[in-house]
Amino acid sequence: MTTTPPVCDYEGSDYQRSFWDQGGRKYEDLSEAIALQRLLPETGHWMLELGAGAGRNTPRYSGFEHVVLLDYSLTQLEQAQQRLGCSHRFVFVAADIYRLPFRDRSFDAATMIRALHHMADAPRALETVKKALRPGAVFILEFANKKNLKSILRYWFGRQEWNPFSLEAVEFVKLNFNFHPRAVRTWLEELGFSVEKVRTVSHFRMNLVKRLFPAQVLAALDGFFQPTGALVQFTPSVFLRARLKSTASHHEYPRSAMELFACPDCRSENLVDEGDHLFCRECSARWTFHNGVYDFRLKK
Ligand SMILES: C[S@@+](CC[C@H](N)C(=O)[O-])C[C@H]1O[C@@H](n2cnc3c(N)ncnc32)[C@H](O)[C@@H]1O
Repeated sequence: MTTTPPVCDYEGSDYQRSFWDQGGRKYEDLSEAIALQRLLPETGHWMLELGAGAGRNTPRYSGFEHVVLLDYSLTQLEQAQQRLGCSHRFVFVAADIYRLPFRDRSFDAATMIRALHHMADAPRALETVKKALRPGAVFILEFANKKNLKSILRYWFGRQEWNPFSLEAVEFVKLNFNFHPRAVRTWLEELGFSVEKVRTVSHFRMNLVKRLFPAQVLAALDGFFQPTGALVQFTPSVFLRARLKSTASHHEYPRSAMELFACPDCRSENLVDEGDHLFCRECSARWTFHNGVYDFRLKK
């Protein structure tokens, strides 16, 4: 088995409650909703939500027949199950983004919101995503922008050592990375994506401004400024829509979750559903299915 970069593990974290529900981030959440609404295709078959967390964004993918929520943390997926309820539209998968348990060319769309942020090897993570996408698929990626206005000012006034204009990622806290927009674009283009739209998000992420104005008003203003991201990006968060160039001929869409899966160890598509686990006929790995979650992190 090849080694993979470390995972920023959210197991047991109350991130959704402490960061979003009680953390004064209504403005950021509404602004992201606006960006997503403008970037998402209206309809689709299989959506892959990478680093889905507690499913905060999942209801926004209502145009898709199926959504696969993938996260490394079981407790985040449990929270997502509670939020979304029981529906055949949703498939819950515990797995590492660097070792995706999917057949190549399965999904017609994917999102990765606030998750690239945790990738120590971002190009490698993006490459695994690319493999899971069908030719012509849409990929909506959010990343934390190292070249944001605050970091530029801090750098100019000598309050920050790292250079916000240089292309390398900056790890400001262990396993938390900010990226340069040009670097992200280059990685995507080298993988065969074309970047169709770039949107800057969270223009007003300043405590004083957030205290003075209602979140709805700030988010509406944010929505107004988001298209400026096509020209310049100085916000802490950037969304982009990339499309995988269409080369190979298209094949059928998967008819069920079982038709999506491949063994993350040996890449075989020959997995058999044995009730409480999937059995890989090629390498004999067993992958647990428990409480509605397919667990591809460690084999049984
Ligand atoms: C900051 S949260 C974002 C959650 C959600 N996308 C949102 O915006 O509300 C990042 C999520 O990425 C997941 N994650 C981090 N590294 C991962 C990896 N290597 N594979 C799968 N999930 C990962 C974490 O478990 C966490 O739930």
